[in-house]
Amino acid sequence: MRPGIVLHQEERRAHCISVRSDNGSEDFIPVPNSSQVMLRSVGRSLLANRITGRRMMSQKTLTGKVAILTASTDGIGLAAAQALGRKGAHVVVSSRGKENVERAVELLRSENIKVTGTTCHVGNREDRERLVKTTVEQCGGVDIFISNAAVNPFVGNITDSTEEVWDKILHVNLKSAFLLTKLVVPYMEIRGGGSVVFVSSAAGYQPVEALGPYNVSKTALMGLTPALAPDLGRRNIRVNCVAPGLIKTQFSSVLWKNENVFEDFKRKMIIKRMGTPQEAGGVIAFLCSDEASYITGETITVAGGINCRL
Ligand SMILES: NC(=O)c1ccc[n+]([C@@H]2O[C@H](COP(=O)([O-])OP(=O)(O)OC[C@H]3O[C@@H](n4cnc5c(N)ncnc54)[C@H](OP(=O)(O)O)[C@@H]3O)[C@@H](O)[C@H]2O)c1
Repeated sequence: MRPGIVLHQEERRAHCISVRSDNGSEDFIPVPNSSQVMLRSVGRSLLANRITGRRMMSQKTLTGKVAILTASTDGIGLAAAQALGRKGAHVVVSSRGKENVERAVELLRSENIKVTGTTCHVGNREDRERLVKTTVEQCGGVDIFISNAAVNPFVGNITDSTEEVWDKILHVNLKSAFLLTKLVVPYMEIRGGGSVVFVSSAAGYQPVEALGPYNVSKTALMGLTPALAPDLGRRNIRVNCVAPGLIKTQFSSVLWKNENVFEDFKRKMIIKRMGTPQEAGGVIAFLCSDEASYITGETITVAGGINCRL
């Protein structure tokens, strides 16, 4: 069919698929000839089974899955919980502050997302163990783990950073991500497989000058991902990493509230604006979905086109 041609009703039926909405009105979507047979048969099967059809249409592809997310009461972690929850997963949100957890749980419930909340400081061994135990007891297992927590207690010349700063950053940003993965893997094996996502940063590729040790901790997460992939792959668990650029959150406010720093970022961006937490959260949820079933050991950059190569 040539573009721009207005078709009569019968011609429309020959060249378009017809979609009937709940209020009974009929729309016609033009399709090329080669696609018509396939689309008609999909359409017929959706009509024959309206429940399956609704489920497919609403993309609830993670129904029945349980997802643990660290640092998920705000920003990227909360947006990832929303994206996973919209795909049907039961999300277990956590962070250090009890009130923050309660607020996030209330928000997610108001969006009809299945949610459990608990406090967890990822640097604390008892907290990590309690997070996993609570999930298994209350939700019956674990299928997805999102390691999103990070700290950055240091801004300055890297040679001024102390041993304490390095210990804290590597402990929270890197070691806890690995130790939590180790805790959840046996439960994922019981379920027959799973998916792990580490939240790194574009700063792991292109160091932000004043954030020395933080940059290195994020580079290390990109290294941890392919290092874990073969071992986890044998257990049918995929592991991937997301490297956000400048995303507008509280954590990054030290960067975007400073006009000079922000302008410097903008010069490096192809898409000349900050990202939203939802734009990062959606990619995290994608990596946990069946659509990403052939992706493991990878880092996906979500940074508005900032050049990210080691
Ligand atoms: N925003 C960006 O531009 C950007 C760019 C690249 C990478 N990232 C990465 O994205 C991740 C999330 O950052 P964000 O920007 O979304 O931050 P955010 O909006 O400020 O949220 C931070 C979350 O982390 C929790 N949290 C902080 N320390 C924690 C700890 N030790 N244990 C558990 N939870 C903790 C906070 O809640 P509580 O205070 O209640 O603990 C809060 O829920 C981090 O790994 C960060 O490095 C962010």
